[in-house]
Amino acid sequence: MPRALITGCTGQDGSYLTELLLSKGYEVHGLKRRASLFNTDRVDHIYQDLHEKNLRFTLHYGELTDGSCMATLLYDIRPDEVYHLGAQSHVRVSFDVPEFTTDVVATGTLRILEAIRRTGVKTRFYQASSSEQFGSTPPPQSETTAFHPRSPYACAKVYAHNITVNYRESYGMHASCGVLFNHESPRRGETFVTRKITRAAAHVKLGLQKKLYLGNLDAKRDWGYAPDYVRAMWMMLQQDEPNDYVIGTGEAHSVRDFVEAAFARVNLDWRDYVEIDPRYFRPAEVDYLLADATKAKKDLGWEPMVTFSQLVNIMVDADLAEVELKMRGGAEAVRLVEE
Ligand code: NAP
Ligand code: GDD
Repeated sequence: MPRALITGCTGQDGSYLTELLLSKGYEVHGLKRRASLFNTDRVDHIYQDLHEKNLRFTLHYGELTDGSCMATLLYDIRPDEVYHLGAQSHVRVSFDVPEFTTDVVATGTLRILEAIRRTGVKTRFYQASSSEQFGSTPPPQSETTAFHPRSPYACAKVYAHNITVNYRESYGMHASCGVLFNHESPRRGETFVTRKITRAAAHVKLGLQKKLYLGNLDAKRDWGYAPDYVRAMWMMLQQDEPNDYVIGTGEAHSVRDFVEAAFARVNLDWRDYVEIDPRYFRPAEVDYLLADATKAKKDLGWEPMVTFSQLVNIMVDADLAEVELKMRGGAEAVRLVEE
């Protein structure tokens, strides 16, 4: 039974990757941060099935800012594959907490690579690189496109990417970087633009919200579906030789396109509800990201399965269902109190 360690296991991608690896018979170990409230919502459902389906899934407390903790976990778990997904992953927030972002994203990656090297654990390593690394370099972007990062987050990811390549070249590690373009899902954090929009469309439709405040509507992104993208991560680590791959759909849309499609899904005209709030503008913007994923398609046989309009519909429908469930729960609670 192969054994995997996932940092960022409680995040969007970590939760889908955990499901994928468990379905392939892996023993999965995940890192979770200590928080004052529960922060395992995205993986809690897996625990329900643990015994019934005989799944092997364990969460360990851990911190990417703590090198000794990373070394201990690696030594104790001795994983065959490490998927390093943990990060302060919000670009706008990285301008507010640049040092912390750099510590977690850049030095955090170095800490794990060093832990692998020093413990001598033989493992394959996946680095969650990002299309943000391309920044202002014109599209389409591929593995040979130059990086021009535009935020503390992107600068830290460039370091993490380069140090991963360096450890591969210096120490012969099986370490691969997946340069993933934006990927979304109903499990996307609520402050990323797609989820912010789909939640708002659901709330407006159900009469719980009047306006949606956004920043730059002209930015273009190559948006895909997160479960398709974690499949690519796994495929990369199954290759005999480590390598770096761009993953994206090859189709870009503006934030305006996304908001239009999301509100159309609930039969509303977005122009009646969206206002621009300069608070959401960034000190430096990334205008246009569009993937050329030819190499991944050819070498890995990877293809995205979900289109842009399917993605928007999946997310809006999930948010509608979630809000309706909460409303029903609230109404039921009121009824019980009144009885
Ligand atoms: P996400 O939902 O924000 O998840 C990030 C994960 O990292 C969470 O589990 C978070 O824990 C954990 N984390 C944050 N700081 C940590 C720390 N100091 N120590 C330990 N764990 C920490 O991100 P995602 O969308 O799944 O993305 C996964 C990875 O891919 C990230 O590295 C991201 O930068 C990268 N990436 C994402 C995209 C995308 O479009 N989604 C594209 C390219 C690259 P909590 O749950 O406790 O916060
Ligand atoms: N978050 C947010 N909120 N973004 C907004 C808003 C808003 O109200 N209004 C407009 N935008 C624009 C941003 O300026 C940006 O151009 C675009 O929407 C997408 O923003 P995000 O959804 O926050 O994602 P991102 O592209 O900055 O970063 C995501 O993708 C990267 C891969 O390219 C994150 O997942 C990163 O972790 C990931 O590396």
